[in-house]
Amino acid sequence: MMKIIFATGNKDKMAEIREIMEDLGYECSSMKEEGIESDPEENGTSFEENAVIKAQAVYDIAKARGIEAIVMADDSGLEIDCLNGEPGIYSARYLGRDVPYSVKNADLIKRTDESGDPDRTARFVCAVAAFFPDGTHEVVRGTVEGVVAHTPSGNRGFGYDPIFFLPDRGCTTADLTNEEKNAISHRGNALRMMKEILVKKYHS
Ligand code: IMP
Repeated sequence: MMKIIFATGNKDKMAEIREIMEDLGYECSSMKEEGIESDPEENGTSFEENAVIKAQAVYDIAKARGIEAIVMADDSGLEIDCLNGEPGIYSARYLGRDVPYSVKNADLIKRTDESGDPDRTARFVCAVAAFFPDGTHEVVRGTVEGVVAHTPSGNRGFGYDPIFFLPDRGCTTADLTNEEKNAISHRGNALRMMKEILVKKYHS
């Protein structure tokens, strides 16, 4: 059976990946479950480059251990148009890794207010990279469009969800259930695109 190893230790990400990849019938595990530790420097200049760096690091370790698997990794963040795409690839590091999201979110609302942009457009972006046992790799990008809220709302989700407002739903992504969010999210969209690539590569 084909195996997918995802370069994460995050349980929520694994649940989403398993749900999306389930019907391929592959075994899905996290690098943590495989006993692999990897924390490469994310020094790429795009979400795609950083996803490739993370996936390649785990792929190399798995290969050295004789594990044959598809190795995937993601890199994601929030791009705000009136702030020239900030926080972008620095989303996790914005204002400092240990600064609470309540502070980061308040700061981004303030800067968006101060920009005077009436549209306040933003998007969540997620790149997913996959390294295949034949040595090739692919990388895809999923997005979800929204606007920066005037005030934070919602207590689900994580990170920037309370300030990411979806105009056609009239709520933020922090107001959605996991299931509702996964159906439209940047990560869900990227994973579904990668699933299509797997179907073409291994099932056609
Ligand atoms: P990473 O891709 O796990 O490195 O996460 C990047 C950062 O982007 C996270 O720490 C969050 O700050 C932000 N981010 C990515 N996806 C989401 C999301 O779905 N909701 C809220 N924040 C997100």
